[in-house]
Amino acid sequence: MNAQYSAKNTNMKRLPNLSLMAFTALLALSFGLLSQPLQANAVPPGTDDDIRERLTPFGNLCRAGEDCGSSAAAVDTGPLSGEAVYNQFCFACHATGASEAPIFADAEAWAPRIDKGMDALMNSTLNGIGMMPPKGTCMNCSDDELQAAVDYMVESVQ
Ligand code: HEC
Repeated sequence: MNAQYSAKNTNMKRLPNLSLMAFTALLALSFGLLSQPLQANAVPPGTDDDIRERLTPFGNLCRAGEDCGSSAAAVDTGPLSGEAVYNQFCFACHATGASEAPIFADAEAWAPRIDKGMDALMNSTLNGIGMMPPKGTCMNCSDDELQAAVDYMVESVQ
């Protein structure tokens, strides 16, 4: 009775040890299995150049004024014409009359403004006037480019 009891007792004592070993083995096994695909993904096939080529997005977007590495972009386009500045920046308000901007080619709207003289018109353009922001929103425009845009608008009513 006493021997039986002690045998049972040692069995029970060994049990946690066995399950711990089994658990450790399982952990090691699953870690090995899991790390296998991770390692395979960590190093994609091909040379660095192959990989870079695959990662290049389709269709490169190149916006005006950006150096896009093409020979065309290397050519100095020079200052924008008055018409180009108008079409890109001033058009938004002066074609529609937004915020009561004097509309392009509207002689009646421009007459009192032209009467103020070109210096006054340029002063308003550079510093803004009423609802019109400074430089008519073309913050990168040179004074010459803005002058050309004002000329372009003034000429439209003459
Ligand atoms: C966000 C709208 C807006 C944009 C963009 C804009 N303007 Fe204007 N502009 C106005 C408004 C509004 C007025 C009238 C302001 C007033 O008299 O209170 C005006 C008036 C003017 C006048 C007359 C100023 C005067 O003293 O009477 C000139 C010149 C002018 N704009 C040039 C330009 C040029 C050049 C550009 C582009 C580079 C431009 N504007 C872009 C809104 C705009």
